[in-house]
Amino acid sequence: MVTIGNRPVEADSLRERMLRKYALDFGMVRPEDTWIEYNLPVVEVGKKIFESTLLSSNEDTACASCHLDRFGSSDGLPTAVGVEGQSFGAKRVELGGDPQPRNALPLWGRGSKGFDVMLWDGRVERVEDGEIRSQFGDNAPSDDPLTVAAHLPPLELGEMVFDHDGANSWYQQEDVSVADAFASTILARLRRESSLIQDLAEASEMPIEEIGFIDVIAAAAHFIAYNYRIKPTQLHRFVFEGEKLSDSELRGGLLFYGSGQCTYCHNGPYFSDLSFHVIPFPQLGFGFNGFGVDYGRYNVTQDPNDLFAFRTPPLLNVSKTAPYSHSGSVPDLASAIRYHIDPLAVPLPENLRPEDRQQYARRIGLWANEYPFATRISDQDIADLIAFLGTLNYQSELPVTEIQ
Ligand code: HEC
Ligand code: HEC
Repeated sequence: MVTIGNRPVEADSLRERMLRKYALDFGMVRPEDTWIEYNLPVVEVGKKIFESTLLSSNEDTACASCHLDRFGSSDGLPTAVGVEGQSFGAKRVELGGDPQPRNALPLWGRGSKGFDVMLWDGRVERVEDGEIRSQFGDNAPSDDPLTVAAHLPPLELGEMVFDHDGANSWYQQEDVSVADAFASTILARLRRESSLIQDLAEASEMPIEEIGFIDVIAAAAHFIAYNYRIKPTQLHRFVFEGEKLSDSELRGGLLFYGSGQCTYCHNGPYFSDLSFHVIPFPQLGFGFNGFGVDYGRYNVTQDPNDLFAFRTPPLLNVSKTAPYSHSGSVPDLASAIRYHIDPLAVPLPENLRPEDRQQYARRIGLWANEYPFATRISDQDIADLIAFLGTLNYQSELPVTEIQ
């Protein structure tokens, strides 16, 4: 409270005004400015599709097995566990599901305006001319990057397609015609064992015989776009409605936009430049490229400059989605922040193989070429940044049923 004469007046401090200005300058917009048009009947069917295990080869795994409310639409595990997994969270690991090489991504803001670069390595993206670049080449099944990304899990090895006795092993070749065959198998099953296709025909006002696998996936994607769309966070209310932040949140915000230089990469409405950078987080698990290695963006472009680079993660609801990084190797937010700035703080395992050590050294070298980071950060700074990240939380629209 400031007093003018004897009268106390609510006045925004200079720091508050600065933070508002920074937030707007670095791309914050009102939530509804990111929304697309929603078709609620399709959203409703899309939700059931998202929760249906009929989409996986073994009928044991749904989208909702790895994208759960209680883990902020991720799965709470370092790296995801695919088919043959049961239940959710750590139980999926205990029960012996098929391990995946990467950390399950949360879904906040996906499908909203301008969110055009999908997955950790951007292997699905909308490029300048509006075309979709993906592993489908010229045959992208949709012109919506979210739908194409959502199309991958049921077709990609392990995530939702697996079979231990080999009876379905023909699915496990990544080939467009095989993918098509798998898609028609699932479609036939959905027609036979559920009312989903009929419901979708009604919701989308299409003749039932015209509903294809891609329409099923597009409906799940539409549910994602609606359910996880940005809603007012504490930071939105601060910027657009003059609500107050705590001291720590305010200090953290000024660090985030100011000397911490986080917005060099975490900017725009989703707090991501949707571009690729190298951060020397440790690598966990067997790695996308096998033998504990994940070349990241390089897998898509084959450009050596892209080695070990990953898409800047959006930070909406980030305090709900531990563990962090593309391989889930970072247990908490404090470590995530510290490792950006000080790779020598990363505890590497004692028994690291020489090749892993060398790989890590290469990543530190590439990181050093990135924009110069803040060089010093105190424990108080980190606590303030964490408090600030907490102002980016909001709730999804509809509760997703957990797969037991
Ligand atoms: C076995 C766990 C698992 C299942 C089942 C699963 N996902 Fe995911 N999902 C992941 C992982 C892991 C990633 C990150 C993969 C990567 O980037 O390489 C991901 C990424 C995504 C993304 C990209 C998000 C972004 O930020 O770009 C979308 C969209 C998505 N999943 C939707 C779905 C849908 C729809 C289904 C059901 C058809 C589904 N997922 C089933 C684990 C899973
Ligand atoms: C040079 C670009 C860049 C800058 C600057 C940057 N980040 Fe990041 N950040 C990334 C990338 C890329 C990742 C993911 C790296 C990976 O998983 O291998 C990441 C990961 C994170 C994560 C983990 C998110 C998750 O879902 O796994 C958090 C939290 C985070 N950054 C916060 C910050 C904060 C706070 C700052 C400022 C102190 C900052 N970042 C500065 C690029 C950047």
